[in-house]
Amino acid sequence: MPPQPTAPPGSTAFQSCINAACGANYPVSQVLIECPACGCLLDVDYDWSSVRQRIPGMWWFNGRSSTTGPRHAAGSVDATPSALDFSGVWRFRDLLAFYGDESDIVTLGEGRTNLQRADLLGSAIGITPASGGRLYLQYEGFNPSGSFKDNGMTAAFTHARMVGAHRVACASTGNTSASLAVYAALTQIPATVFIGDGKIAYGKLAQALDYGAQTLQIAGDFDACLARLVEIVVKRPELGVYLMNSVNPFRLEGQKTIMYRVLEGLDWRVPDWIVVPGGNLGNSSAFGKAFIELKSLGLIDRVPRLAVINAGGARTLDRVVNEMGVKWTPGGPASTAGAGTPPPPASQSLARTSAARGAGGEAGLRGTWDRAALDREYARMDKAKERAHTVASAIEINRPVNLPKCLRTLHAMNGVVRSVDDTTIVEHKALVGRYGFGCEPASGASVAGAKRLIDEGVIGKDQTVVCILTGHALKDPDVTVGYHTGIDTKTAGAVMSELGLTAKPTGKWSNAPIKVKDDLDSIIAAMGV
Ligand code: F0G
Repeated sequence: MPPQPTAPPGSTAFQSCINAACGANYPVSQVLIECPACGCLLDVDYDWSSVRQRIPGMWWFNGRSSTTGPRHAAGSVDATPSALDFSGVWRFRDLLAFYGDESDIVTLGEGRTNLQRADLLGSAIGITPASGGRLYLQYEGFNPSGSFKDNGMTAAFTHARMVGAHRVACASTGNTSASLAVYAALTQIPATVFIGDGKIAYGKLAQALDYGAQTLQIAGDFDACLARLVEIVVKRPELGVYLMNSVNPFRLEGQKTIMYRVLEGLDWRVPDWIVVPGGNLGNSSAFGKAFIELKSLGLIDRVPRLAVINAGGARTLDRVVNEMGVKWTPGGPASTAGAGTPPPPASQSLARTSAARGAGGEAGLRGTWDRAALDREYARMDKAKERAHTVASAIEINRPVNLPKCLRTLHAMNGVVRSVDDTTIVEHKALVGRYGFGCEPASGASVAGAKRLIDEGVIGKDQTVVCILTGHALKDPDVTVGYHTGIDTKTAGAVMSELGLTAKPTGKWSNAPIKVKDDLDSIIAAMGV
């Protein structure tokens, strides 16, 4: 008989507002997308005492990746201990133990991804292997849905099932929708995805349609889609829509494990640099949280530096950090934590956990930042009708929802932010391909950004650099074919869109997208909820 799932020893998880001036905590059983008291982002935080007692070093996780034994019955995503060890997310479950019992966990073996040493590509962008420089590619395209999103989705679906969610939804530039659709199909939780009209690569759209998610093509961009969906979740709670975007703090818990696997791939040595593309800033936020926690637990002795790379046509973070100088200030007066927090709405039961007062739990996750400056910048962008535009459609985002958490990461990891233009992105995407590792355009931005920082002398040629390749090459074949053949993908897209007006699918399982106006009532009517 296979070993039975057990509860994580001594796990005490709670949700915690990142704003040091607020300091509110909430139980994990509550479904929240922001702090009800102050409107800021939430973390999942923990009482770490059990981890401190049991885990002497990261090597403690060594045995789990080589697990043998039964995984899942076909079509099942329920956890068994060996299925958990098989997952590159859940083999680190002790560091994200927000679930009540291991049998709550929804997994399909996500996160079995590679840290690939890439000397040839490294040399091509200026790293010198002869002087000890190393480039590694953390290839998240190997996930079940072909992008890093599965790391987060497995965690968010675990939470969704714990709280009994009966409909899940996301706004997406494509990969979130593909990943959500996979987990929704396997758990049979009805799913809706909101995508910007004409704003999604066909590889990703194809996945959401095939996995049976209801797909709403909203007349607008990603920012508009997310704003509408948040409006539905907040204003119409009776519809019971569970939000799967990265404002959901449970998703980011799963994405922390990308960093654990990088360390694992380096035999638990800490690299000098992590380079990641920045869109909605979920990854960078999760990476910073992972390192803040590991450092505070004494499981690493230093943190790597981080470079977040924006596309030139979607460079809100770059502007906010490098031109406006907005920064994260950690901690906050311990006496203000909790004090002065407006009472939560009557429907919310606010639980305060003594372990988490002051600077935000044991790890010190709380801080402050200039909220008014961000509001002013967004107002300016709206007035100027500035819209994100880049060939890397995955990161075509103007208002990154996790921006404050990313500021925290930049503080904790001594991070830098740069932008790279579209031509540089596609050239570096092609260069990655040339050395045998395909990726989609947004992922090419990380290699392009690393090259820029090496040229600037910020990243040393003799340093160890890990570029995160966030999505598989086959996600966006139009850009690749366009690059290699000169076929104008925009024209091709327009033709497809024309066809879309008249063509009728005939397949038994056809799941055509529904065109909807950017209007709340039309969207809710189309959702049929
Ligand atoms: N790379 C890829 C391939 C992505 O799909 C995304 C985000 C990012 C990078 C940016 O990551 O948001 O954590 O900074 N895609 C989202 C989506 C927005 O809807 O699929 P981030």
